[in-house]
Amino acid sequence: MKNGTAAPKKRLLKALAGETQERPPVWFMRQAGRYLPEYKQVRGVAGSFLNLCYNPELAEEVTLQPIRRFGFDAAILFSDILVVPDALGQEVAFKEGEGPVLEPITDLGQLGDLDLGAVKDRLAPVYETVSRLSKSLPEDVTLFGFAGAPWTVATYMVGGRGSPDQGAAKAWAYRAPDEFQQLIDLLVEATVVHLSAQVEQGAEAVQIFDTWAGSLPDLSFRRFALEPMKAITAKLKAKYPDVPVIAFPRGAGPMAETYFRDTGVDALSLDTGMQLRWARERLQSQGCVQGNLDPLLLVAGGEEMRRQATYILEELGGGPFVFNLGHGIVPQTPPDHVAELVELVKNWKA
Ligand code: CP3
Repeated sequence: MKNGTAAPKKRLLKALAGETQERPPVWFMRQAGRYLPEYKQVRGVAGSFLNLCYNPELAEEVTLQPIRRFGFDAAILFSDILVVPDALGQEVAFKEGEGPVLEPITDLGQLGDLDLGAVKDRLAPVYETVSRLSKSLPEDVTLFGFAGAPWTVATYMVGGRGSPDQGAAKAWAYRAPDEFQQLIDLLVEATVVHLSAQVEQGAEAVQIFDTWAGSLPDLSFRRFALEPMKAITAKLKAKYPDVPVIAFPRGAGPMAETYFRDTGVDALSLDTGMQLRWARERLQSQGCVQGNLDPLLLVAGGEEMRRQATYILEELGGGPFVFNLGHGIVPQTPPDHVAELVELVKNWKA
């Protein structure tokens, strides 16, 4: 039990503190988004995706939509991991049907143009959203802040867009590791600034998304995924010892075991490919785990969704656990399937 000091009352915070509960808390990554008609409506009013992220009133509204509809145990701030490079001065645009587009940063000169000191002011609207949510959420719902992990954010900053192999960031990291480290170090600092501001405004727990952690080989995983997460966690814990940190090192596989131990995070979010018995023995024995239903099972619904969700509950529900997906909800997800799955979890008993 990693966080045994506080005595939290909310179901989600109890799980993160290492408590096993009769039924686990439930929320889903990307629970706000395009699969909900009410989201599309607000998104239309906002114009662009980033306008929505930077409009506290509308961002609050879309954060609350899935809470109202499904009764999740947690709300996650509506924003994006790429607001950090945007605030550092590397302008980000989200193009329809294309995803994020940035002017790639590939050398130390461009890196020097980024301004860590600007982050807090430029992201003030995001922190206002957190503040509003901390007042408007139902009292049993936990408010999550979040950020991208340095490696994952760096893959977009260096590549200028999403890529299947993170080739541009790897090229820099392998050609000049000490140079690339400077970008990672800057992102460690920016992430701490960003998460601290969210905690100051009322975020009760934070999740750090390392979507591309699993593409790194062992040695680089240690240097660019594990070590930065360890540094971020230590800096946050020094300021906010009672705020739990969840890491999502997607695709880490067996490296997740040392990662959980050495980073000092409170909980590990498991991706779809994680073997459950192994996760119970090697990961849940260290603390709370979260996960990991395939988002495409949520699209399919029906008997197979129920069967695999029940299997996850049986394998992991006997220890500290948060029910979630193995990655984010996809746009083609039928909202009815989400409602059914939430009910299944809420009615499950160990
Ligand atoms: O979980 C939530 O409900 C909170 C909001 C949230 C978003 N993005 C909203 C979003 C969170 C936590 C993220 C994290 C994020 N963003 C990650 C890490 C987690 C993961 O899914 O792997 C990454 C890699 C990004 C970067 C990003 N943002 C991409 C690659 C894209 C384009 C792909 C897509 O789904 O459109 C986005 C856009 C984005 N972020 C949308 C949403 C709701 C869709 C944009 C729209 O509405 O037009």
